[in-house]
Amino acid sequence: MPKWSNGRNKQEDRETEEVTFSSSKFMGFSMDHPYPSFLSLKSLAAFYSCLWNAFEMLETSCIQTNVISPSDVVTGDLPANFLWNSLCLLSLFIITAPIKPVVDSKMSTASVDLMQNDSVNNGDCVNNGECDNDYDFSKLGDKPKHLNMERQRSFDERSLVEASPRHTPWAENGQRHIDLDSIFSPSRRSSFNTPRSICSFEPHPMFAEAWESLRKTMVYFRGQPVGTIAALDNSDEKLNYDQVFVRDFIPSALAFLMNGEPEIVKNFLLKTLRLQSWEKKIDRFQLGEGVMPASFKVLHDPVRNTETLMADFGESAIGRVAPVDSGFWWIILLRAYTKSTGDTSLAEMPDCQKGMRLILALCLSEGFDTFPTLLCADGCSMIDRRMGVYGYPIEIQALFFMALRCALVLIKQDAQGKELVERIVKRLHALSFHMRSYFWLDLKQLNDIYRYKTEEYSHTAVNKFNVIPDSLPEWVFDFMPTYGGYFIGNVGPSNMDFRWFCLGNCIAILSSLATPEQSTAIMDLIESRWEELVGDMPVKVCYPAIESHDWKIITGCDPKNTRWSYHNGGSWPVLLWLLTAACIKVGRPQIARRAIEVAELRLAKDGWPEYYDGKSGRYIGKQARKHQTWSVAGYLVAKMMLEDPSHLGMIALEEDKQMKSIVKRSSSWTF
Ligand code: GLC
Repeated sequence: MPKWSNGRNKQEDRETEEVTFSSSKFMGFSMDHPYPSFLSLKSLAAFYSCLWNAFEMLETSCIQTNVISPSDVVTGDLPANFLWNSLCLLSLFIITAPIKPVVDSKMSTASVDLMQNDSVNNGDCVNNGECDNDYDFSKLGDKPKHLNMERQRSFDERSLVEASPRHTPWAENGQRHIDLDSIFSPSRRSSFNTPRSICSFEPHPMFAEAWESLRKTMVYFRGQPVGTIAALDNSDEKLNYDQVFVRDFIPSALAFLMNGEPEIVKNFLLKTLRLQSWEKKIDRFQLGEGVMPASFKVLHDPVRNTETLMADFGESAIGRVAPVDSGFWWIILLRAYTKSTGDTSLAEMPDCQKGMRLILALCLSEGFDTFPTLLCADGCSMIDRRMGVYGYPIEIQALFFMALRCALVLIKQDAQGKELVERIVKRLHALSFHMRSYFWLDLKQLNDIYRYKTEEYSHTAVNKFNVIPDSLPEWVFDFMPTYGGYFIGNVGPSNMDFRWFCLGNCIAILSSLATPEQSTAIMDLIESRWEELVGDMPVKVCYPAIESHDWKIITGCDPKNTRWSYHNGGSWPVLLWLLTAACIKVGRPQIARRAIEVAELRLAKDGWPEYYDGKSGRYIGKQARKHQTWSVAGYLVAKMMLEDPSHLGMIALEEDKQMKSIVKRSSSWTF
């Protein structure tokens, strides 16, 4: 039985709470005590919390159906039908609340304790797993199911304050502000138990199916789980989809961590670390020591009854490109593991420290660079075929920034580490300045570029990279909303790739490469360009597609990357977890909720495809694998994070206060 459903956490060294959820008994009002519950402060709190949540749900659905707009909520300029519905809702609550059946009287205490205590009540919940919430698992089996909600101790990470958002009422600018401070401190966790987190999560039947599918993809090496296979699709030619990809394993790993199953993640980190130390050669050329594999596979020898690992560092990959992202993801995952488990011993191991140093040595080495960004070959990340994503692609720069920030908290400050930490700090400052200044595009910035003079020489040049305004693509003028902005795809000499890339922008938010204003602007853009970026299946890997002559030149006539397909404007369900995490960090979870609802309409029915084709993602991808593991895991992570946003801490970093004061902001960041 999946661990999430049996809910018994056997690990004793962590704080654990187990909660049984039942939608039929979340209120805490009893027939035995018709009105007294109103008299108790605790019950009153429970009542108002649920009422508040009902209002929020009403408000969200009204926004979604365009009955009201977010700005209406801020200005209080609400239409009569919304107010009328609200009034009806209030009356309904007053009439029905006192007679709401309570099946177990213990529950009423538990649900109130969830709100009142500073940390989530561990009493009854931990011991007998019978405290309640709004989670209806009855659909998933006969017996009541338990959801394993591990609350793990935060571990202190040097100067960085990392936390996850909690809901607060609408603020003046029409968005919810989130308090990113201290949410991981167990003593303050109950501040998280706003009505929404108590009453909002309805498990979709897909959730159970997804867990089942994910477990089937687990790969074992000498009896130990070490990763998940890329796709479990037997209908097609396998190519390398029968391997464990480093980047593909990230959402799987996060799902396991969120479910309190860190073992597979630890094994994966250690196994890939061993692979890193292999000698890697392409023809006669030896790759850098720090390169991490793109993927690996377990080979079984039935005759000798042995198992060995086989890795691909780019020497077998289509296009023969080394995966620059693998090393970054490895560091990011090491931090996620450490953050989630509180187990610092893995990261402190000399081998892990060396592994990190080797990865960083590859990207911090001095050369002919004039920019702090990292120069890359095409196809070195998730978009692993020729797509014009070379030079200084946002996908890699954002991961680079995030990996540096994670390394900063993981590298030991011993003799070797000290100097490295200094180099990381310097690079972070230069990189964030460069990215925030030159990759950022909003209406004002676009207008400035449109009016650029060219051929400027010397330090006083405004158009530093000599971008020719005629090279601005037509589509970008329509695409750019009045409010909103994003980090463009690439910036180099006389080159600006204006395409939107989802992963890069989400990672920019999660790593705090984007300032809070920029993060908000990215969310504004996603909302304004919903049809284009989310459409019928979240989320477009990049936008727009390259067509006709450009497609021929840029992709080399790649038949897999035709317009609106695969990497060329295809829609990738895996990106849902990144979008969700970014939305939560910015305090806009309703955007993620909406995207998840879109995905839920089709994803399982279609057999969890790898990607979708078409302008709005209506078609299962031409060559998409079915039962693609990261489509499954991406959905799971998105759901779990939305249900318990404190998981965000594994994968998000708060803005470094030091950096904030050093980096000056461009005037176009404020609206
Ligand atoms: C494709 C994707 C790549 C992914 C691999 C395995 O090659 O482009 O990003 O890692 O499949 O799923």
